[in-house]
Amino acid sequence: MRAISPEGAKAHLIHLMLNGQARSLHVLPWTTLLDLLREQLDLIGTKKGCDHGQCGACTVLRDGQRVNACLTLAVMCDGAELVTIEGLADGEQLHPMQRAFIRHDAFQCGYCTPGQICSAIGLAHEGRADSRAAISEQMSGNLCRCGAYANIVAAVEEALPLMQQVRP
Ligand code: FES
Ligand code: FES
Repeated sequence: MRAISPEGAKAHLIHLMLNGQARSLHVLPWTTLLDLLREQLDLIGTKKGCDHGQCGACTVLRDGQRVNACLTLAVMCDGAELVTIEGLADGEQLHPMQRAFIRHDAFQCGYCTPGQICSAIGLAHEGRADSRAAISEQMSGNLCRCGAYANIVAAVEEALPLMQQVRP
């Protein structure tokens, strides 16, 4: 569904790199990055959970940093490099964090998983998670209603060292 523009509302032209591709897009001032991705660009891998910055399901990477797409206005992304769950794999080759999640069976329904994986990659870039406890603490913005936390932490712990060389 596209945002309906009231009479006179002005769309802004933004330029960004999205999953490795240069894109120029017209966005309304109130359009969130989450709605841009899901509703205008059909990138529905990024999930809408709470839409209020409380669950982390919408986490994507902006210039390598994890952000909640539901709290980020699309116009704020002008000039940014964005990576969503759809942009992590290299062809058939999954990203090391994706492989670790599969290896550790770190999901049940999978709804939180794209956000968990993007958040874990952002966590790796931050370079502050040096223990299981630190991983748990620093991933606490990503909720999992299925309670797969133990496996998620195990997957992140395994993949973190590999992330030192990989930056999506
Ligand atoms: Fe963005 Fe929940 S949908 S934090
Ligand atoms: Fe179901 Fe996390 S796997 S919410």
